[in-house]
Amino acid sequence: MEQFNFNNELSGKIALVTGGTKGAGRAIAERLLQAGATVIVTARNAPEKKNSNLHFIASDLSKAEGAQNVVSEVLTNYGRLDILINNIGGSSTPAGGFAALSDADWESTLQANLLAPIRLDRGFLPQMIDRKTGVIIHIASIQGKLPLYDSTLPYAAAKAGLRNYSKSLSNEVAPKGVRVLTISPGWINTTASEAWLGEIARNSNSTVEEAQQGVMDALGGIPFGRPAEPEEVAELIGFLVSPRANYLTGTEYIIDGGTVPTI
Ligand SMILES: NC(=O)c1ccc[n+]([C@@H]2O[C@H](COP(=O)([O-])OP(=O)(O)OC[C@H]3O[C@@H](n4cnc5c(N)ncnc54)[C@H](OP(=O)(O)O)[C@@H]3O)[C@@H](O)[C@H]2O)c1
Repeated sequence: MEQFNFNNELSGKIALVTGGTKGAGRAIAERLLQAGATVIVTARNAPEKKNSNLHFIASDLSKAEGAQNVVSEVLTNYGRLDILINNIGGSSTPAGGFAALSDADWESTLQANLLAPIRLDRGFLPQMIDRKTGVIIHIASIQGKLPLYDSTLPYAAAKAGLRNYSKSLSNEVAPKGVRVLTISPGWINTTASEAWLGEIARNSNSTVEEAQQGVMDALGGIPFGRPAEPEEVAELIGFLVSPRANYLTGTEYIIDGGTVPTI
């Protein structure tokens, strides 16, 4: 993607991107870095492609202790946090609808997609409120309003919960100077989705292109004809966390190439 000059509009800001080592999270972290922020990324494993300008904290955010460790490490080492991008999430439960799912499937999905952001918000908000400034982004999914019951039932329910929680939180903290926003992407072309397509192709004896078309058909079609690139999602977030978006809070931004068929 073409490199823009963002005039260091995030210079002096401290940002945390959860899951910032791969996929959308990595693109978001690099976009905030380009705009001049100090960027911290978290994941369970160290990044394969190292970028020495991204400060890495290893942590499993699907556990309460993981979130506590990240909050205390960031506040001890950097003194504050200005921008929190709650990006981790995903689905690894079996397909097959309600009967195929155990309590453990529901719990693991809710931990990663809903409780992880809730815990981090709770940990970082007090210092944002004290300073009357801060931006929190929740990465949800179009599945929060367009559920695919056969393949990702707990994920869709967790993301719907995240959208609702995000709105409540914004109502509570907007008067205290903190902005809270939701981004709901459609399909993004990430490492995880490439691996997933490969698996579908192998299991169905088809090509990756046919598998991609099958996924687009299951979504009811993507009018744009392709998934988003991670950098396209990152670009929206780069704007939303910047001072150019100072009056935006409590709203959801769908970035899906037209997938959701309703207004
Ligand atoms: N890809 C899509 O099509 C799509 C569509 C709509 C919404 N989204 C949402 O966009 C966000 C990013 O998705 P993505 O596809 O870019 O993900 P991804 O490529 O699978 O990357 C996930 C990142 O999160 C980290 N992570 C996963 N579980 C973690 C845990 N328990 N604790 C700490 N870090 C963890 C991963 O690193 P480690 O594995 O090393 O921990 C990795 O850095 C998610 O919220 C997803 O639901 C994605």
